[in-house]
Amino acid sequence: MPYSQDFINALNHAAIITETDLQGRIISVNELFCKISGYSAAELLGSPHRIVNSGVHSKEFFNEMWRRISSGNTWCGEVCNRAKDGSFYWVQATIFPVFHAETNEIYRYAAIRFDITEKKEQELALSRRAAQYKAVIETTDGFCRINRNGRFLDVSEGYCHITGYSQDELMQMNIYDMDASENFVERMNNFKYLIESNGKSYEAKRRRKNGSIWTAEINASYSTLDDGSLFVFFHDITERKSMEEHNEMLRQQVNQMQKLDSIGRLTAGIAHDFNNVLASILGYNDFNQDISDEMPESEMKRELRHNVEQVKIAANRAVELINKMLTYTRQKVPRKTKDTKPTAQVIEEVVNMLRSGLTSKFQVELNLDASLNIDVDTIDMHQIMTNLLVNARDAMRQQGSGSIKIQLQITRNLNGHCDACFKQITGDFIELSVSDTGTGIDKETIRHIFDPFFTTKSVGEGTGLGLSVVNGIVRDSGGHLLVDSQLGKGTTFRLIFPLPSNSQSI
Ligand SMILES: Nc1ncnc2c1ncn2[C@@H]1O[C@H](COP(=O)(O)OP(=O)(O)OP(=O)(O)O)[C@@H](O)[C@H]1O
Ligand SMILES: [Mg+2]
Repeated sequence: MPYSQDFINALNHAAIITETDLQGRIISVNELFCKISGYSAAELLGSPHRIVNSGVHSKEFFNEMWRRISSGNTWCGEVCNRAKDGSFYWVQATIFPVFHAETNEIYRYAAIRFDITEKKEQELALSRRAAQYKAVIETTDGFCRINRNGRFLDVSEGYCHITGYSQDELMQMNIYDMDASENFVERMNNFKYLIESNGKSYEAKRRRKNGSIWTAEINASYSTLDDGSLFVFFHDITERKSMEEHNEMLRQQVNQMQKLDSIGRLTAGIAHDFNNVLASILGYNDFNQDISDEMPESEMKRELRHNVEQVKIAANRAVELINKMLTYTRQKVPRKTKDTKPTAQVIEEVVNMLRSGLTSKFQVELNLDASLNIDVDTIDMHQIMTNLLVNARDAMRQQGSGSIKIQLQITRNLNGHCDACFKQITGDFIELSVSDTGTGIDKETIRHIFDPFFTTKSVGEGTGLGLSVVNGIVRDSGGHLLVDSQLGKGTTFRLIFPLPSNSQSI
């Protein structure tokens, strides 16, 4: 049945329709072909179809097309053609041979072509965007695309490289699995921050597959595709951060040294002058004592004796204080003979000595390796233990109960920072630790507790010299101090000393 005129009109309207002879010369065109190509029908008729060849396709492309249609088959494909004004247009072409009704031989070729320029331009724009996207991704250390639940939708090779996970592994994971925090709630809070950060750069700690931590500079922004996905770019700034931290540590060390040096000099000066004043007070007091001894028994003599005694007590307290100050500044004349009782024994002695204020109210647990000896003078060891135990008692005094744990042991593979001198410490040590279940100390305060005269106690209750003295003794024996503390839970002072050279086999 022949096609209706309406159908033919519609087809003419929608498609470019041409016919060529066996050599490819155009023998019929429709209006749309003229309109799209920009050539008039007169220019097209009789011309080879090559007239609209854009040069985009290879010779093989057209050879294959001719091979198909000349062997009686239909060829379909997308072709880029060139209009008269030089602009390109794309068509979806169906070209087929037309057979003679009587001889059944091919006597011409017909083609129906639909204009797909717009679709092709969109495809090209998309692939250009994809290439740009790839280029941007390659400029960052790591990139991923996630959905609003944190699921990975896309990860770059760089991201796999930094995290140590394969692409397949990551596609089964969520971005918050990469967070360095062990605490789930914290990881969720960090994830919330990420999805709300939109364009704001920030730093965060991340965990690699092998457990090591890296520092990332993160920048996340929502996809313009409006599918709710988030592009996340990472820069690995681990090295830069550790350099900054190292520099900060050095700065603190220098500051601390300068501070201690100037306070030390000031303290030594005051203590020295004060010692002279005390010597004279005690000297005159001794005269008074001699005078009172000479006096006959009387009310006045008893009163004088009492006063002399009180002056002596007060002056001796002042001497003790000066000794503390001198111990801190290490200006004290070194003892001629160093007395080193077994460390465990000294510790037990101090605990017994403080029995009335300590063991009667608080539980004291001792866990001492008696074979270990810290190379510190017995009197200095007494000072250390007394100060640490009195501090522990004071920290638990308000709550009225608690426990103190004293340990003497070997600690291997330590890796930490000294809280007094801020130096990094690694290796094996003898560790003496005193833990309490008291108030705890906040991080900012810990930075100051080893400073001479730093105290949080009220006037008359503390001089702020206890830990400075401990620090001075520990420092002189080549040791360091580490403080672990949690507010409301308690504090552990860890004193670490070098292992004696013959103790490698312990
Ligand atoms: N175990 C502890 N728990 C809580 N805070 C502590 C502890 N040990 C020390 N501190 C804090 O460190 C500060 C300094 O301690 P340090 O022993 O140097 O001085 P002090 O105890 O205040 O005075 P004193 O010279 O009498 O020892 C204390 O005032 C206190 O705030
Ligand atoms: Mg103290």
